[in-house]
Amino acid sequence: MGATDMAELVERVRAGIGTKTLVLVGLMGAGKTSVGRKLAQILQLPFADSDHEIESVSRMTVPELFEAYGEVEFRALEQRVVTRLIADGPAVIGTGGGAFMNADTRAAIRANGISIWLKADLDTLMDRVARRQNRPLLKNSDPRAVMRKLMEDRYPVYGEADVTIVSRDARHGTIAAEIIEAVDARLAQNITKVT
Ligand code: S3P
Repeated sequence: MGATDMAELVERVRAGIGTKTLVLVGLMGAGKTSVGRKLAQILQLPFADSDHEIESVSRMTVPELFEAYGEVEFRALEQRVVTRLIADGPAVIGTGGGAFMNADTRAAIRANGISIWLKADLDTLMDRVARRQNRPLLKNSDPRAVMRKLMEDRYPVYGEADVTIVSRDARHGTIAAEIIEAVDARLAQNITKVT
């Protein structure tokens, strides 16, 4: 796509989303934060990452929160933070992998956002999460089996997202451009999925 076409597309998408947020969902390692940042940069919108926001309000890291209060408390905090971020559009938000699994959070996203599932295969996810030790759910003797189970459990729900983009080893800008085109197509349909 030429620079002029891209600039037109960006303008159209920015106008089309109004005050909505673009919400990236998907498993750990799918690239929600890195692609989200790039997407926000191209669209010239603010970017927020729900895990970072949770860490900043709680002054604890995600592993510390899991350790001190458990997953249930973490999920409650996550829901409050994501709901607040969504209300603050237009923006791009990267969410923690579990956020979209919460029915209330999904409803808030449906009302005020456009959800984008970054879908990746198991090898890609495992390659990416192996680089950091910051995922409490994977602190386990068989993280690959955990990830496989999460794919089974979560993919049907992530599949409810408005847009699905395959995340793979491509440049962040390439994936971000695909998202912008898919959101544009979605806006042209003028339908938000009702489930
Ligand atoms: C989680 C994903 C993590 C983080 C927490 C739980 C999950 O975020 O919120 O460790 O349930 O999938 P990322 O998807 O950004 O790694």
